[in-house]
Amino acid sequence: MNEREAAVERLFSRIAPNYGVLNTVLTFGLHRLWRRFATRKVPQGQGTTALDLCAGTGDFAVALRRTGTTVIAADLSAPMLTIARHRSHGALPVVVADGFQLPFASGCFDAVTVGFGLRHAQQDLPALLREVRRVLRDSGKLVVLELSHPPAPLWRWLTGLYIQALIPLIGAVVDAEAYRYLAQSLRGYPDAPTLQAMLLASGFAACEYHLLTGGIVAVHVATA
Ligand SMILES: C[S@@+](CC[C@H](N)C(=O)[O-])C[C@H]1O[C@@H](n2cnc3c(N)ncnc32)[C@H](O)[C@@H]1O
Repeated sequence: MNEREAAVERLFSRIAPNYGVLNTVLTFGLHRLWRRFATRKVPQGQGTTALDLCAGTGDFAVALRRTGTTVIAADLSAPMLTIARHRSHGALPVVVADGFQLPFASGCFDAVTVGFGLRHAQQDLPALLREVRRVLRDSGKLVVLELSHPPAPLWRWLTGLYIQALIPLIGAVVDAEAYRYLAQSLRGYPDAPTLQAMLLASGFAACEYHLLTGGIVAVHVATA
């Protein structure tokens, strides 16, 4: 783990106990609808293996497990994974792992999900995407759910104001530094067409994306 990843790990480990509740408050519950949309894009069911990367408290992993999918949750933060494991009554396999160096054989997953995790890997996004591609079998799917940049200028300005000004203010109740970082981490993150191009350049054969809630979030579905 380099210094940046270590800082991200410390930050998420600090906010782990409040992460789920604050996520619901700050998105007005919308993250559940966004995730339901994204989950429908993931290959799932008996006989399917999936990696939930940047799993956090395991929202994707828990939903996929319910469909009979064999899921492993991986994250830098052990406290986040402890909550994910607790939510699955101890049944979810979890691995403390860095997305840049996954401890899995090449081609061993049918699907990888990354929920609100990619923007924390901006130091070298193409390297992370190549590593995800490595662990996916050919024709496997990567489903990314992440904040994005709405195309309509007024909506982009309004949501930008909310994210940059109000989220740090509300988040300060829990951890001012952490929620300031979470708001700022969207700066410099690629817009949806740019991320699509990055995925194609990182070894994926095809990629489609869907903008939700006017583009506040984007769901990218990339085929290995
Ligand atoms: C905002 S949380 C998202 C959690 C969950 N996926 C969700 O959808 O709510 C981002 C997570 O990514 C993890 N993370 C950040 N960089 C990572 C990396 N390089 N490798 C593995 N996990 C990472 C953090 O520890 C954190 O738990």
